[in-house]
Amino acid sequence: MPRSVDLSSATGSAPQLAPNGRGVPATVRYSGTTPELSTITAGLARAIRAPSIHNTQPWRWRRVEAGLELLAEDSRWLAATDPDRTDLLVSCGAVLHHARIAFSSLGWSTTVRRTTGCAQPAHLASVEFARQEPNPEVVALSEAITRRFSNRAPYTSWEVPDGIVNTLLSAGAHQGATVLKVDDGRVHRGLADALATAESQRQTSQDYGEELALWTGTPANVHAGVPKAAFRPPTNPLNRRPFNDPSEPDAAREEDASVFLVIGTVHDDVESRLRAGEALSAVLLEATVVGMATCPISLPIEVPEARRMLRSAVFGGGCHPQLIVRVGWAHINQQPPPPTPRLDLESVFDWSGVDAHRAPGVATRRDPTPTTGVR
Ligand SMILES: Cc1cc2nc3c(=O)[nH]c(=O)nc-3n(C[C@H](O)[C@H](O)[C@H](O)COP(=O)(O)O)c2cc1C
Repeated sequence: MPRSVDLSSATGSAPQLAPNGRGVPATVRYSGTTPELSTITAGLARAIRAPSIHNTQPWRWRRVEAGLELLAEDSRWLAATDPDRTDLLVSCGAVLHHARIAFSSLGWSTTVRRTTGCAQPAHLASVEFARQEPNPEVVALSEAITRRFSNRAPYTSWEVPDGIVNTLLSAGAHQGATVLKVDDGRVHRGLADALATAESQRQTSQDYGEELALWTGTPANVHAGVPKAAFRPPTNPLNRRPFNDPSEPDAAREEDASVFLVIGTVHDDVESRLRAGEALSAVLLEATVVGMATCPISLPIEVPEARRMLRSAVFGGGCHPQLIVRVGWAHINQQPPPPTPRLDLESVFDWSGVDAHRAPGVATRRDPTPTTGVR
C-alpha cells in the first residue's frame, strides 16, 4: 500500500527528500502560491530520474516568477540517432510528467501550458502551481520514480493480465496519447519487420554508430549516457538494440511473455511528442507501482521507413508512433543494476532569475560531464 503524506505535520520546513531524490517527503510547507525553492529542488531532484534517450537528459528547468519552465537542451540532442528530435521531445515529456507527479506528492498540483515550439523552439512548457493535498495514489507513483529503471533483461513467461494492460493503456490515454497493445500475430510481425528495417539501415550509418559508442558503455563516473552496468545479455529479440553484451550467455531459458505497447499521437508536432513522453512516464510509473518491469524501445521510430511500417502495422496509418514500451514480469532472482546516473541538478536547473539565495541541497560544483558529449 502506498504511504500517505502526513499533512498535519506541515510546519515551516522544506520537504525532506534524500539527496538522490529517494524517500517520501517528511514535511510539507503549505504557505504561498508557489513552492519555495527548497521544495522546487526536492521535486526536480526526483523528476530528473525520468528516462531519456541514451540517458542524455536533454532538458533544462528554469525558475520564473509564475513557476517553472521546461526547455529542451539541444547540446545533448543526438542528431544522428534522432534527426527529427522525436526522442528528445519524448524524453522531455517524460521529465515533465515525472515533475508533475513529484510535485503533487509534495502537495503542489500543477497546471501545464505546452508551447508549440514555434516562437522559442527550446521552450517546451510552463508549469504553474497550486496547493493541493496529495493522495495515496500520487504518492505511490512518486515513490515508483525511485524504483523504476529500464530493464533490458529477458522477462518471465508469466502473462501480463489484461487488467494491468488496460490500466497502462488508460494511463497513457489520460495524457493525451493513444497507447495500443501489440496483440495479434500480424501486428507483431509488423513490429519485427520495422525493427529489422531500422537495424539494417543503422548498420550503414557511421554517424549513428559513433553517437552510440559515445553515449553507451560510459564510465561509471560520468553522469550522462548509459553505463555498461545497465547492459544486459541478449534478450527479447525486439529489445536487443543497443545495449547487449555478447560476451555474456543468453539468460533467456524460458519463453519471454513481454507485452509490447506502442504510444502514438494523432498529430506529429512538438506538443504531441511532448504528450507522448508524458504518456510514457505515466505508463512506466503505473507499471512500476504494480511491480512490472519495463523498457522503452525507440529504434524503429528513429528511421523514417521503419516508422512508416510501424504506423501502418499498428495504427493502420492513423496515429503517428512515438515510442514502444516492453512490459513484463522480471525474474524474481534478478538483481537490479545500480541506478543509471544523472547530471547534478545544478547542471539542469537555473533558479538565478528569481531566487537570489542558493537552495539547500543543490550542488555548488559544476558537473564534469561535457555538454556536447560524455567522453
Ligand atoms: C525516448 C526514449 C528512447 C529510448 N530508447 C531505448 C531503446 O531503444 N533501447 C533501450 O534499451 N532503452 C531505451 N531507452 C531507455 C534509456 O536508455 C534510459 O531511460 C536511460 O538510459 C536512463 O536509464 P533508466 O531508464 O534505467 O533510468 C529510451 C528512453 C527514452 C525516453
